[in-house]
Amino acid sequence: MKDALQAIKDRSSIRAYKDEPLTKEELDVIIQAGLQAPTAANRQEVYFTVVDGKDPILAEIQAEMLKDRPDANPPHNFYYEAPTVIILSGKEEFFWSPLDAGIAVENMAIAAEATGLGNLIIGCIKDAMRGEKKAYFSEALKIPEGYEFEVAFAVGHRATEKAPHEYSEEKNVTYLC
Ligand SMILES: Cc1cc2nc3c(=O)[nH]c(=O)nc-3n(C[C@H](O)[C@H](O)[C@H](O)COP(=O)(O)O)c2cc1C
Repeated sequence: MKDALQAIKDRSSIRAYKDEPLTKEELDVIIQAGLQAPTAANRQEVYFTVVDGKDPILAEIQAEMLKDRPDANPPHNFYYEAPTVIILSGKEEFFWSPLDAGIAVENMAIAAEATGLGNLIIGCIKDAMRGEKKAYFSEALKIPEGYEFEVAFAVGHRATEKAPHEYSEEKNVTYLC
């Protein structure tokens, strides 16, 4: 297993997966990493719904996302056919819910990278998840009452490699000391 700094350095968004389910141990590592993330005031209100990549509810979310774009025919679904998709939801109207979910999903991404799994953080379904079919999706995904979608996470055995993104310390950092 990679150490934390190496996993942070190597992580990248993976958009092709093998048709191979995660083992229980692999999934446990990811879920524990999400649960171990810090939350504002230690409220621990990020909720995780683990969905099989072949579950028809994911195709319904995809269709809802594309409903206003009848000509769109993307070659991949929003989770790139990963074997497992994890939906993270947070308490509605809690100021820190988006940040709490973001920290949890990054913990999961680092844990996945450390254990050799490919992964992708997914935000593109947010409008679909919070739109007209919000209640329907929440019920189907067993999202608790009073919670709503924040972000999703695809994870599986990678079928491609991608180098980490480039970045510029000059552009993004100021040292005042
Ligand atoms: C909040 C958030 C939402 C994202 N949503 C999507 C998405 O819906 N679909 C997708 O393919 N990638 C998504 N990404 C991945 C970014 O595109 C990716 O992190 C970025 O291009 C940098 O590439 P890297 O992750 O390989 O370093 C998302 C990333 C973040 C942090």
